[in-house]
Amino acid sequence: MSVHPEPVNKVLISDLLNMKGEGKKISMITAYSYPQGLIVDEAGIDIILVGDSLGMVELGYKDTVPVTMAEMLHHTRAVVRAVARAHVVGDMPFMSYNISVEQAVTNAGILYKDGGADSVKLEGGMEMADKVAAIHKAGIPVFGHIGLTPQTAALMGGFKVQGRSLDNAKKVMDDAFALEDAGAFALILEAIPKQLSQLITEKVSIPTIGIGGGVYCDGQVLVLHDMVGLFRRFTPKFVKVYADVYTTQLNAVKEFIRDIEDATFPGDDQSFSMKEEAVEELKQSLKK
Ligand code: KIV
Repeated sequence: MSVHPEPVNKVLISDLLNMKGEGKKISMITAYSYPQGLIVDEAGIDIILVGDSLGMVELGYKDTVPVTMAEMLHHTRAVVRAVARAHVVGDMPFMSYNISVEQAVTNAGILYKDGGADSVKLEGGMEMADKVAAIHKAGIPVFGHIGLTPQTAALMGGFKVQGRSLDNAKKVMDDAFALEDAGAFALILEAIPKQLSQLITEKVSIPTIGIGGGVYCDGQVLVLHDMVGLFRRFTPKFVKVYADVYTTQLNAVKEFIRDIEDATFPGDDQSFSMKEEAVEELKQSLKK
């Protein structure tokens, strides 16, 4: 028996390209676990990213740099087990593709073949084009990620908006062209001015998905924990918070503690019972 759900109208790369062509917006969100995968797939999201943001929002690291291939593989598998419809992207962690083309193809293969992801994502523009091309040539679809690239934010002076100056805007534009030429099937545009995203979106034939990239991208992505209020260390400007799941869970656990202390939990509804006669018989047997 398969542990994976039967694919239901699985979102294909060709569907995403058609959506761009038809001007239909693409929805994307992160997920890291089986229940999160079930929720976002049932909601009807088009693309699920098992992002290396995992390191910050689920594993408590300071940033995404320490995330390992073993962690990404473990969480990608959990999400893949839940998802029937959405396209699942496995994120390549820092230093799993930066050293050589061979290393990049090998690790992409692990997330794709062993993890069951439908594609892989890596950060970087022109400087990563050779790796993107090699992974693509190996038969694995690749999602690009340009603009602000959190794994190498230290080289960008921190988590700063990219592409504001003419030179930097041209660089981001060239990154987009280089990845498209290398065979990437879609691009994340992170933290760049909306006018630059608009130009890139018009000029490339592949879908652009913005996170802090403004409304003109072909689609939008957010980190699940940011938009449901589960990650509270900081909230980037581009996040819209739709729920306060942290407080909901906090209040549920507080109520549970009160119920235990008051002995109002478990009630009869949560308890098992035996017949009165059986209880009496048991008591009598103990007296003998
Ligand atoms: O890891 C992640 O969640 C990401 C998003 C910021 C796109 O790469």
